[in-house]
Amino acid sequence: MPSTINVAVIGTGWCGGIRAQTCAKNPFVQDLHIAEIKPERLQEVADLTKPASATTDYRILLNNHSIDAVFISTTPEPTHYPIAKESLLAGAVIGNRFYAVSGDVQSSGTGVAVSTPAATAFEFTQ
Ligand SMILES: NC(=O)c1ccc[n+]([C@@H]2O[C@H](COP(=O)([O-])OP(=O)(O)OC[C@H]3O[C@@H](n4cnc5c(N)ncnc54)[C@H](O)[C@@H]3O)[C@@H](O)[C@H]2O)c1
Repeated sequence: MPSTINVAVIGTGWCGGIRAQTCAKNPFVQDLHIAEIKPERLQEVADLTKPASATTDYRILLNNHSIDAVFISTTPEPTHYPIAKESLLAGAVIGNRFYAVSGDVQSSGTGVAVSTPAATAFEFTQ
């Protein structure tokens, strides 16, 4: 495993905003990338976190093969599954990288999914 990873946060509302700020300060995170469909909130979080990239279209991030992990923090909750699935498929394409996607497992039981070169596994609890 590398000593630092590049992270994307998709959905930077309340929770995703906190996650983005935490990642921005974390020494194990090299590059932070953020996606948010509300331009004013995207700008607000970008000002706070100085990300490597900020976009209103999360699919742009899925095409960035330098990203190792994606936090999905969107609402409404049903948006998690399609974004997680797309993220995993993008990760599977990357091939030689560990690629993990986490929903909001502990608080909402939404699920977690992990893709490695060897396997892609979904473990959704609802
Ligand atoms: N608010 C809390 O106290 C809390 C606590 C624990 C967990 N959570 C979980 O965190 C997740 C986010 O909750 P929240 O309270 O931050 O919600 P929120 O509504 O404040 O933020 C969600 C953000 O996702 C954005 N979004 C929606 N679709 C998008 C897309 N396709 N691409 C990019 N951005 C998109 C919305 O514009 C919004 O800013 C939820 O799963 C929630 O259950 C929230």
